[in-house]
Amino acid sequence: MLSLAKEGLEGLVVTSSEICAIDGEQGRILYRGVDVGSLAKQAIYEETVYLLWYDELPSRGQLDAFTARLAAERDLDTRMSTLLTSLSGSLEPMEVLRTAVSALPGCESRSKDNGWEANLSRALHLTAKIPTIVAHCHRDTQGEDRIRPDARLNHAASFLYLLRGERGTALQERALDMAMTLMADHELNASTFAARVTASTLSDMYAAVTSAIGTLNGPLHGAANQRAMEMLLEIGDIEHVEPHVENALASGKRIMGFGHRVYKTTADPRVAYLQEVLYEVCLELGDLHFYHLPMAVAATVKRKKGLYPNVDFFAAPLLYMLGIPVELFPAVFAASRVAGWTAHVMEQHNNNRLLRPLAQYVGVVDRSYVPLDKRNGRVVFH
Ligand code: SDX
Repeated sequence: MLSLAKEGLEGLVVTSSEICAIDGEQGRILYRGVDVGSLAKQAIYEETVYLLWYDELPSRGQLDAFTARLAAERDLDTRMSTLLTSLSGSLEPMEVLRTAVSALPGCESRSKDNGWEANLSRALHLTAKIPTIVAHCHRDTQGEDRIRPDARLNHAASFLYLLRGERGTALQERALDMAMTLMADHELNASTFAARVTASTLSDMYAAVTSAIGTLNGPLHGAANQRAMEMLLEIGDIEHVEPHVENALASGKRIMGFGHRVYKTTADPRVAYLQEVLYEVCLELGDLHFYHLPMAVAATVKRKKGLYPNVDFFAAPLLYMLGIPVELFPAVFAASRVAGWTAHVMEQHNNNRLLRPLAQYVGVVDRSYVPLDKRNGRVVFH
C-alpha cells in the first residue's frame, strides 16, 4: 500500500546523515555534533568547512594547512576568466555562477572517480573558487577591475576584499565569517536535497552543486534574502512597517524572510547570532537604521501572523551593511552553503542508493488513442 507523504515531503525522513542535526522544537543546529552558535562565535569559516568534511575539528597545524590549501585555489585560470567575461552583463549573478560551476571540471582530469579523496579535491576547488567567481562577475558588471585573491587573508576576509576592492574592518570581516558559518549547512534543505538526488545517480559533484545552485535561487529558499532586502528598502522607515505588513498579509502575499518548514514553534536559531552581529556592524558604522527597521518588521509580523524571521531575513541587512550589493545575496549564500552541499555529496557517494520516490497518479485513466485525422480538438499551440 503506497503511503502518500504530506505535500512538499513535509516531515518525511528520506535518508540518514551524520552531517547536520536540526531540532525545530528546541531551536538547535549541530554541525557534526557541534553547536552552530559556538562555531559562529569562536571558529573561522574554514574550521567549520573542515569539520563538515572531515567530521572532526582541525588541530592548529591541520587548520593552517587547510586554510593555505583553500587560499591557493582561489584564483581562476584563463579559460574560466574568459568564460566569465563572456557571461557577465547578460546573466544574473546566480545564472553566471551556475554556468561557471558547470565549466569548472574543465580545470581537472576527467576522472569518474567519486571516491572520498577525488571528491574532497573537487569540494576544495568549488569552495575556493565560488567567491572569486561571484566577485569577478560583480566587478565586471560594474565595469571595475577584477581583484586578484590575496592568499594572506582568510576565506571571508578574502571574499569581502574581492567584492569591494578594499579590506573590511576587522569587525566587518568577522561578521561575514559568522554569517558564512551560520549558512554553511542546514540538513536536508531543498538545495542540499537537490544535490543529494543528483549525486545519488552517481553523477559528479560539479553537477550536484549546479543542481543545488539552481535550487537555492528560488525565492522560497536562498533568494529570499534578496527579496527581504528589497522589501526593507521599499518600506524605508519605521512608520511604514505596520501598513506594509498589513497590506502584504491582507493580499495573501508571502513576506520574504519569514516562516520556515522546520522552525514552526521556535525561532530559527541562527537569527539571534545574526541580529547581534548586525547591531555591532551598524554601531561601528554609526547607522542603526537597518538594525531597527528589520527588528520592527520582525516584531510586527510575529504579532500579526505569528511567524518568526528565518536566516534569510537577518542575513540580508547584514550583507547590505557590509556593502555587498543586494543582487549578490543569493550568490553569497551559495558561497557559504557549498561547504554543506559538498559534504552531503561526499556522504551520498560514500553510501549510495538511488533517491527515487513515487508520485500518486491522480490524472485521467483508460483514455483511447484517436487517430490524428479523427481529432478535431481546439487549437492549443499558437
Ligand atoms: C531558507 O529548509 C531550510 O532549511 C531552508 C533554509 C536553509 O538554511 O537552507 O533555512 C533557508 O530557505 C529559509 C526560508 C526562506 N524562504 C522564505 O523566507 C520565503 C517565505 N517563507 C515561506 O514561503 C514559507 O514559510 C516557507 C516556504 C519557508 C515554508 O513553507 P511551508 O513549511 O510549506 O509552510 P506553508 O507554506 O504551508 O505555510 C503555512 C502557513 C500558511 O498559512 P495558512 O494558509 O495555513 O493560513 O503559514 C503561512 C502560509 O500562508 N506562511 C506565510 C509565510 N510563510 C508561511 N505567510 C506569509 N508570509 C510568509 N513568509
